[in-house]
Amino acid sequence: MEIRILRFDAVDSTNTSALRHAKQGADEGLVIIAGEQTVGRGRFGRNWYSAAGSGLYFSIILRPAISLTHLPLLTLMAGVAAHDALEEFVQDVDLKWVNDLLVRGLKIGGILAETTETARGLAVVIGIGINLRSSILPPELRQTATSIEKETGRQPDSSALEFTLIRYLSYFYHILGEDNGAAIIREEWIKRSSFANGKSVTVKTDGRILNGITDGLEADGALRLITGSGILTIRAGDVEMLRPAGDASGLMHGAD
Ligand code: BTN
Repeated sequence: MEIRILRFDAVDSTNTSALRHAKQGADEGLVIIAGEQTVGRGRFGRNWYSAAGSGLYFSIILRPAISLTHLPLLTLMAGVAAHDALEEFVQDVDLKWVNDLLVRGLKIGGILAETTETARGLAVVIGIGINLRSSILPPELRQTATSIEKETGRQPDSSALEFTLIRYLSYFYHILGEDNGAAIIREEWIKRSSFANGKSVTVKTDGRILNGITDGLEADGALRLITGSGILTIRAGDVEMLRPAGDASGLMHGAD
């Protein structure tokens, strides 16, 4: 995949911008990076706090030649890549299904994958937000979020992080496209997540609150949950909240 980077001081949302470029026919590998987002978006229509200097705001266009059933695996692939990139800057990064990046149980980054039909076929935009500095986060997010600066006591080098992220995304995206790539990505995701197996969690899905123990991932990336009424398969689009059982911390930019 050939990478081309477009940088902006400020955009509405790097995902919205990347979706626009994809519609206009941009190639796979176009990366949009902004210093600030005026309408940064999280999952479930949530706001993503995106002040200048606070985070890395990054989106990449992919045009995967994989079947639609493998689309959720692209999100997992991005999670694995972002995890490994972050680990070059911070220790003990965890992945919470479906795609929260955590350190010490606090959210340090998130991923928003979106698709759009274009004249050249389906395009997928993977948007990644990583908290660089939490000293300027609003107080309500400081409870549930952390940042590279907070964890290391140093100002992160955001351009080094960008290039590391691009390196891992290119690497794992290539693996996903190989024979058996989906199974490899699933295994790599499981290896990096303390949530994949045997974790007691509370899940909000379809307006219902479920309690259960995680039991790995299905081949398509769905989460298996052992509940009192049997094993349930939870799909990413349906889950509004997943948190360790007994944890009542807040939503939004923080760990949910
Ligand atoms: C989440 O955890 O809810 C996902 C957050 C994703 C935020 C990133 S920041 C770059 C890209 N542009 C956006 O508007 N959102 C994603």
